[in-house]
Amino acid sequence: MSLQDKFGRQITDLRVSVTDRCNFRCVYCRSADPENYREHDEILSWKELERLAKVFCELGIRKVRLTGGEPLVRSGVDEFVKYLSGMGFADLSMTTNGHLLAERCERLIAAGLHRINISLDSLHREKFEKITRTKSFASVMNGIDAAQRSKLGPAKVNAVLVRGINDDEVEAFAEFARERGVIMRFIEFMPLDADRHWSREKVVAAAEVYERINARWPLVQIPHEKSETARKYRFADGAPGEIGLIAPVTQPFCGHCSRIRLTADGKLRTCLFSKDDHDLRAFLRDGASDEDLAAYIRSAVNEKEKSHHINEPGFVPPNRTMVFIGG
Ligand code: GTP
Ligand code: 5AD
Ligand code: SF4
Repeated sequence: MSLQDKFGRQITDLRVSVTDRCNFRCVYCRSADPENYREHDEILSWKELERLAKVFCELGIRKVRLTGGEPLVRSGVDEFVKYLSGMGFADLSMTTNGHLLAERCERLIAAGLHRINISLDSLHREKFEKITRTKSFASVMNGIDAAQRSKLGPAKVNAVLVRGINDDEVEAFAEFARERGVIMRFIEFMPLDADRHWSREKVVAAAEVYERINARWPLVQIPHEKSETARKYRFADGAPGEIGLIAPVTQPFCGHCSRIRLTADGKLRTCLFSKDDHDLRAFLRDGASDEDLAAYIRSAVNEKEKSHHINEPGFVPPNRTMVFIGG
């Protein structure tokens, strides 16, 4: 069985947000002011998540990525990874801020996690701590080191570039990739921040990042799956590490999108920029059968948005911000 939308896109990837909570407060994501987290009973229980995972698996989902908020702050996530691993998904990964990773890495591997993506928005402690509004630079660096030494290496390291904040670090990040052998990915800032500070002027285009790195260390393109978010490059001089450019604003990749999202409170989102979500939790708690759930998911997926409208006049950002959608 497979999931498909009305534009013929095969939907094979599911991003599951296991919590809306986060121990960071990144400026491009969360508000400086305290936000109201969902009450515990609004969040899907592990049992409910397991049930939905089974339904999604039967519908042809092959790749599952756990996100948050920060997935490692919810206790029981290792057991959930183990459950998913037992279901035999072809790709099982997690996106984390890295703060708790050093201490959790081995347990995640033992549970069956295949890959890890870690956010790192500056190589300078003070700047990092200003962007994330934490004191966690050392713990994140330790998390990256732990992942690199483990079976999860090479880790993907994600930097969201914001003009005037960290765009001076492009070359330094590339050097970091070469020295550590990580896959360094540069992400264009999207209008999903809680404080609504996004503006086009703050977006650092992937083309600029490419030119700057290529001028210093010539890059060679690596083939990528059509549905992947990143364009991938290796260093022509054979140095370790890789560069990934994620350009949702200047080069949207919606036409090949294979992703859907499940939020921590059980809403199915067919696009990061969806205006509405589909309330799977209500359906589940009303006693729906697996067949009912599958039919509901199928019809929601069929109506998946063709693309985001960031580049069109009158664009309105979704009312849920990144921390509540799950990246
Ligand atoms: P891989 O499977 O390792 O390639 O991961 P990924 O790039 O899909 O996941 P990750 O969580 O590392 O996300 C990297 C960036 O891509 C984040 O800023 C995401 O929000 C963004 N991203 C992921 N999926 C989508 C999408 O469907 N649309 C848009 N516009 N951005 C996305
Ligand atoms: N624009 C682009 N990427 C973002 N992320 C969080 N907020 C934004 C935004 N406004 C990134 C995080 C993480 C991934 C899941 O999403 O840095 O790497
Ligand atoms: Fe937390 Fe991730 Fe948002 Fe940063 S980007 S505040 S780490 S959810």
